Amino acid sequence: MIKMEEFGELIKTRRSIRKFQDKPVPEDFLVKAIELAAWAPNGGNYQPWKFLIITNKELIHKMGDAVKAKTEIMASWPEAVICGGMLERWKKTSDFFRGAPACIAVLMGRYSSIADQVLQARGETDPVAREIRSYRQLGNSSLQSVAAAITYLVLIFHSFGLGTTWMAGPQQAKKEIEQLLDVPPEWDFVDLIPVGYPAETPKTAGRKPVSEVIQFFR
Ligand SMILES: Cc1cc2nc3c(=O)[nH]c(=O)nc-3n(C[C@H](O)[C@H](O)[C@H](O)COP(=O)(O)O)c2cc1C
Repeated sequence: MIKMEEFGELIKTRRSIRKFQDKPVPEDFLVKAIELAAWAPNGGNYQPWKFLIITNKELIHKMGDAVKAKTEIMASWPEAVICGGMLERWKKTSDFFRGAPACIAVLMGRYSSIADQVLQARGETDPVAREIRSYRQLGNSSLQSVAAAITYLVLIFHSFGLGTTWMAGPQQAKKEIEQLLDVPPEWDFVDLIPVGYPAETPKTAGRKPVSEVIQFFR
């Protein structure tokens, strides 16, 4: 068993990496990390995920163009002024993943638990069923499962000496990215994970003290 100090160190030293060395990532590392990440807990062991590994530079740039185009549309809306100075930064950085030698597009499948199936069959008219369904949609089990796998994935890559950033931002170009990657209609693109050897050592803003985020019911 890995010692708690070592595991804690691994967890605490992982940072989101947005600048990468111009050095390819061995395919074996990419496959091994995904193989291990798939051991994450997941709803009903349905494993509602697929990981598309993109090392083709042209394809990465096309995804970057699609994300940037959507950023520019949103940034041009008058409502975007609420972002203040962050707006210019967002415009410059939303497609930073272009600089990564590899990107993993994470797809989410549609897992339907026993409860989901019962609720589906019950239909819209029963208010209790409607209420429970809304709770389950909010805490979408497939999305929770995919998030668990990505949590493992970024940590595993860190243990290999590789940098990543978990990116939900590229969802703004979901349709375009799904077209570029030929994603079947029953799958949804949810996250992009650029992977590469780090070319930066970001500082951390740290985390809230544990006392702020826990509550005992003794
Ligand atoms: C669900 C999720 C979505 C995120 N999306 C983005 C993103 O679109 N772009 C980005 O640069 N970072 C993104 N991040 C990274 C966070 O900004 C980062 O994890 C957070 O600031 C803490 O920094 P650290 O990862 O270095 O500890 C995302 C992280 C998570 C968990």
